[in-house]
Amino acid sequence: MIRSAVALVCAVFSVLTSPAQAANVMAGQQIYMQYCVGCHGVGGQAVLPNAPHFSRGERLMQPDTMLMMSIRTGKQSMPSFNGILRDQQILDVIAYLRTLQR
Ligand code: HEC
Repeated sequence: MIRSAVALVCAVFSVLTSPAQAANVMAGQQIYMQYCVGCHGVGGQAVLPNAPHFSRGERLMQPDTMLMMSIRTGKQSMPSFNGILRDQQILDVIAYLRTLQR
């Protein structure tokens, strides 16, 4: 009886504390090819002047939360993706950006 109560508490605890869904690089790549490639270029070699080259790791020395804020609100000539991409999708695309650095 006590043992099953302990098991139940542990189960509830692990559900409550499990981390948010891990970022999905493959999904991030699809988002990148749809929304970002026009300026940031294939493989992160930017085509728009002033857009950072992710292939050189530009602007990637920031935590995900900072990058997420920029993508959500937009920056200079970069449009806001608020209401276009969900937070999970932004995290997916950030995970993809981090694979582009050579
Ligand atoms: C219309 C062109 C354009 C599009 C589309 C675009 N960006 Fe950008 N992006 C820029 C420019 C220009 C900058 C540099 C802004 C600046 O001067 O700080 C930038 C900056 C960034 C930065 C660096 C932000 C920082 O805080 O330094 C990130 C990360 C980024 N873009 C990600 C993305 C992602 C992800 C997408 C697609 C969902 C995207 N961008 C779509 C033009 C674009």
